[in-house]
Amino acid sequence: MTFNNRTAFITGAAGRIGRATAAEFAKQGVKLVLADINMEKLNAFVSELQKIHPEVYGIYMDVTDRESMEQGFKEIMKKHGRVDILVNNAGVWPRGSALESSLEDWQSILNINLNSAFYLSKLFGTAMKAQQYGRIINLGSIAGEAGLPERCAYSVAKAGVIMLTKTMAMELSKDNVTVNCVSPGMIADEKSPNSGTWLGRSGTGDEVANAIVFFAADESSYITGTDLPVDGGRTLGPLTTGLKR
Ligand SMILES: NC(=O)c1ccc[n+]([C@@H]2O[C@H](COP(=O)([O-])OP(=O)(O)OC[C@H]3O[C@@H](n4cnc5c(N)ncnc54)[C@H](O)[C@@H]3O)[C@@H](O)[C@H]2O)c1
Repeated sequence: MTFNNRTAFITGAAGRIGRATAAEFAKQGVKLVLADINMEKLNAFVSELQKIHPEVYGIYMDVTDRESMEQGFKEIMKKHGRVDILVNNAGVWPRGSALESSLEDWQSILNINLNSAFYLSKLFGTAMKAQQYGRIINLGSIAGEAGLPERCAYSVAKAGVIMLTKTMAMELSKDNVTVNCVSPGMIADEKSPNSGTWLGRSGTGDEVANAIVFFAADESSYITGTDLPVDGGRTLGPLTTGLKR
């Protein structure tokens, strides 16, 4: 993969997929700014990563808080002058059917999973437009493609993330900024048997990270507005063909 002295910013970077993505970028020599609200976990991870890659540091950013996002953006731009790659990864998926959810629950879930991706893409996308280069990668979910009962607000938020991706891809197409979405299925710490996928197992953070890093690399220059499921075939349809395994 080719990364020309690029800088990447990842939200929710102390989590499973965020850490795996940061580690993969580090292997590729990409300069990194990592953000989370869990600073204990983030700082521990950053210290580990610095042993193999000195150009990484962590900042506090709460993606539900406008001021926190604006302050983080300013700090990063002051230090680096530019950010080439934005990974909108922070997200939570609390339970709740439509009938059980309060309006406050609903708004809070949309706020962290969808509104944050909009606002950070707006902040960083404006700078990317000015520099005429950028890669925005959003974390969707197969719940945003197919829906998931008991996770109604989450599914709706992730469907919004997928449409945000497509619309912003069109809007930024003349500015050399691509916008793509990676939609994970069942991701666990280790590959473990899972009969709900065609590949017969759950995926790992590394397997999601590989897709994110591809969309961030120069090699993906002709791809924009896509939503890539990384789900072991979960969204292909029911496992009902009688295929011998
Ligand atoms: N793991 C899966 O199976 C799966 C499946 C589909 C989609 N996804 C999506 O992938 C992304 C990453 O998932 P993950 O499995 O790594 O989750 P995770 O729970 O391991 O990590 C999420 C990180 O986000 C951080 N975070 C939470 N609230 C925040 C806030 N307000 N501001 C900033 N950071 C905040 C957490 O501290 C945590 O470090 C999410 O958007 C998630 O919806 C994950």
